Amino acid sequence: MKGFDRVARLYRWSEYATFGPLLSRCRFEFLSSAEEAQRALVLGDGDGRFTAALLASSPEVLVDAVDQSAEMLRLLSTRCASERVHTHCIDAMRFHLHGPYDLIATHFFLDCLSTNDVETLALRIAANSAPNARWLISDFDIPAGILRWPARLLVRSLYLAFRVLTGLRIQQLPPWRQALEEAGFHCLQSVPRLRGILVAEMWVLRPTMRVR
Ligand SMILES: C[S@@+](CC[C@H](N)C(=O)[O-])C[C@H]1O[C@@H](n2cnc3c(N)ncnc32)[C@H](O)[C@@H]1O
Repeated sequence: MKGFDRVARLYRWSEYATFGPLLSRCRFEFLSSAEEAQRALVLGDGDGRFTAALLASSPEVLVDAVDQSAEMLRLLSTRCASERVHTHCIDAMRFHLHGPYDLIATHFFLDCLSTNDVETLALRIAANSAPNARWLISDFDIPAGILRWPARLLVRSLYLAFRVLTGLRIQQLPPWRQALEEAGFHCLQSVPRLRGILVAEMWVLRPTMRVR
């Protein structure tokens, strides 16, 4: 087994043991705003908890679920047994986007990418999205103020753990907000949790900035 395959089965339980319900609250923060979605791109959803909730809340949505871990995708397929979901076991950077998407979701995924990859991905997604497409994001963050250093330490420890467990090479949070802005997205809403160490954000593609 390689990469996230090694942790797939334990992922959910280790998440609950460390952060309780906080990561789930981030994932589902803006779910209700996606009820009308028709075409969704869900990158790195792991065991499929977000995709399952999306299918339940958005009756017409068709989902491209992309993950490079076969074991994670197997769990996702079991949890989301629906003809409305198409799974793709491939590196997101090599996935041929079948847009236009009106919903993109990346929960605790952008932190697995390098700065270059986040920039490239954001531009590719913008070019394959419908006007006003929404992008839901959950991730770790480094808040300003007194919690800056504890947050840095926590994020560093998590990267170290994932490096040991999955071989993840990335070691710091990429500047994904900047990448999204440069690709033409605009932040509509940001909800901090755990005093800003976690964040859930909803971004929208400005119609005039759409590349294609
Ligand atoms: C930290 S887990 C997050 C899982 C889930 N989204 C969540 O909210 O907990 C990252 C997921 O992204 C996948 N992943 C990481 N890098 C990837 C890449 N370059 N292409 C596709 N999937 C990737 C991993 O296999 C894993 O399932």
